[in-house]
Amino acid sequence: MGCRRNINQTVSLGLKNLKSKHEKIIDMVEKFIVTPWEVRGQIDYEKLVKEFGTKHINQKLLERIKKHTGELHPFLRRGIFFSHRDLDWILNEYEKGNKFFLYTGRAPSGPVHIGHLIPWIFTKWLQEKFDVELWFQFPDEEKTFFKENLTLEDTKKFTYENALDVIALGFDPKNTHFLIDTVNAKTMYKEAVKVAKKITFSTTKAVFGFSNDTNIGAIFYTAMQTVPAFLPSVMKGKNIPCLIPYAIDQDAHFRISRDVLPKLGYYKPAAIHCIFLPGLGGIVEQGKMSSSEEETTIYTTDDPETVKRKIVKYAFSGGAATIEEHRKKGGNPDVDVSYQWLTFFEDDDKKLKKIHDDYISGKLLTGELKQILIYKLNSFLKEHQKKREKAKDHYDKFIFKD
Ligand code: TRP
Repeated sequence: MGCRRNINQTVSLGLKNLKSKHEKIIDMVEKFIVTPWEVRGQIDYEKLVKEFGTKHINQKLLERIKKHTGELHPFLRRGIFFSHRDLDWILNEYEKGNKFFLYTGRAPSGPVHIGHLIPWIFTKWLQEKFDVELWFQFPDEEKTFFKENLTLEDTKKFTYENALDVIALGFDPKNTHFLIDTVNAKTMYKEAVKVAKKITFSTTKAVFGFSNDTNIGAIFYTAMQTVPAFLPSVMKGKNIPCLIPYAIDQDAHFRISRDVLPKLGYYKPAAIHCIFLPGLGGIVEQGKMSSSEEETTIYTTDDPETVKRKIVKYAFSGGAATIEEHRKKGGNPDVDVSYQWLTFFEDDDKKLKKIHDDYISGKLLTGELKQILIYKLNSFLKEHQKKREKAKDHYDKFIFKD
């Protein structure tokens, strides 16, 4: 449905462009890519669950979570967190009194955009509801291996800037530890060595698609990303279950972690996966918001005018071509980026449903829908930016001291 609608819209671009654009879109629908280094095309999440071998979060599991949390986060109710590994085991252990810890992270390589916040907002909710520790990794070396011009000096700056966005979400400093790979190397490297010894080059080739031209830093890196999944167990001298919330593109790393850690005597880390916030260009062309495409990305530091301009100009619309037609036939919320973003940022189910229904019926116009989104996002960002400023006074409290 979504793709057909997009292709129809390209028809109006004129015959000259039609063929190549049309083919490009068919290509993106059929050949999507999801790896830790690249996300492209319209993502078929169903297919990812099958290919990666994860499990859907079903109704039964939701009920079990709700027993402990009292309510379900909108991301769970709406299937934004849609897949998992061993989450049932994490709950079994929790119910026996064996608490888990949370682990997630961010490779600093540029400013944070609102898509990055999705797994972190959810992690904050989990921390609060289950009252557990969080280990947050900033692998400041990671992206230097993958981006030609990015240096350690650059990522050092972004580590600090990105950490402010994380702190702004309200994590409890007493229960949250930031690990910065080059700063905490004294503690982390020793553990990475044990992991690296269990991973062959042929495994990294198969899992990540590396070749003989890949620099050896990139090949080693995955060992560093496994470390926080068992570091608390090392430090406390006993096995502690680990739950990792992340966007599904990171899964390749943790398939390796789950393979290696039992060989070192630790639990396999459990995981809970989210879908991507699409870029303003829409779910076909931009299944994932991308920092390198500035105009179709909203950064956490964008001012209200910038947010407004980008949405008005670029938010892919599921509306009809003219107002008359829209009033008659209605819009399509499934492909409309403004509506899709509201499913992430409007917590009130009733409000969201009304917007959905009014859009389908044609009562709500695309321009009006965009205004709702602009207001919602700007209110969110205003608060976020205030907290981000305050975070500067608290940064040091979060850094793990080895
Ligand atoms: N590789 C991640 C990125 O590119 C950063 C990261 C490190 C991470 N550890 C993690 C992400 C754990 C999710 C969970 O941003």
